[in-house]
Amino acid sequence: MTDLLVVEGLEAFYGQSQVLFGVSFTIGKGEVLSLLGRNGAGKTTTLKSIMGLVPPRAGRVRFGSTDITGRPAHRIARLRIGYVPEDRVIFPDLTVWENLDVARRPPLPDGREAWTEERVFELFAQLRPMARRLGGTLSGGEQQMLAIARALMGNPDLLLLDEPSEGLAPLVVQTMLEQLLRLKETGLTILLSEQNLTFARRLSDRVCVIVKGEIKYAGSMEELVANETLRRAYLTV
Ligand SMILES: Nc1ncnc2c1ncn2[C@@H]1O[C@H](COP(=O)(O)OP(=O)(O)OP(=O)(O)O)[C@@H](O)[C@H]1O
Ligand SMILES: [Mg+2]
Repeated sequence: MTDLLVVEGLEAFYGQSQVLFGVSFTIGKGEVLSLLGRNGAGKTTTLKSIMGLVPPRAGRVRFGSTDITGRPAHRIARLRIGYVPEDRVIFPDLTVWENLDVARRPPLPDGREAWTEERVFELFAQLRPMARRLGGTLSGGEQQMLAIARALMGNPDLLLLDEPSEGLAPLVVQTMLEQLLRLKETGLTILLSEQNLTFARRLSDRVCVIVKGEIKYAGSMEELVANETLRRAYLTV
């Protein structure tokens, strides 16, 4: 499998305080990798470092054949990397349709089907009847779906999802899981940050566990789930 994203030895700081210590992993094209870890472990910082929002002080990030380390965030965002931050940024004063429309970017001429509002509504059916409603009036789950949909309108090759299930009711989490599974079937490459093991388990091909800014486990979800010592040591389960 060709690696679409290669992260190598990332070190990141907030001021004087170091939060990532040599974080390395790869994601193959079409693969879903889950980055698991407790609160404050460094999941969000890892995603932000990839996106150039917290520029790494050491290490490298390669996306396809391009070294994107140290590039400014707005330039990285222009590459085919969709980023859905944990605070689900949507425009509250724009309608659902407008939220999607402003996020549209032309697809690459590689023969893949481009994302349109219609295609988004096929995936996130509950957004369709809300097309004319203001983003700010949507429920938490609907806003999360809209945030993911906005990222898709940019026709990404790689999608970074920061804890999409967080704070959502169990029924909504279930719906979102089914939607993300369908998204995975389209061949999209996904880096998922999660604390919800059940959610991540259904979606991921491989997992990494991050503990205090270090990757402590990388491998299959089956092995992690089967190994209670590992789970207890590194995760809140
Ligand atoms: N803007 C910031 N300034 C200073 N320290 C920060 C900042 N953001 C995060 N940190 C610290 O960096 C560490 C890693 O935080 P990060 O947000 O990456 O963790 P996380 O795994 O995403 O946690 P959560 O599950 O709560 O979202 C934590 O110790 C956190 O307190
Ligand atoms: Mg986080």
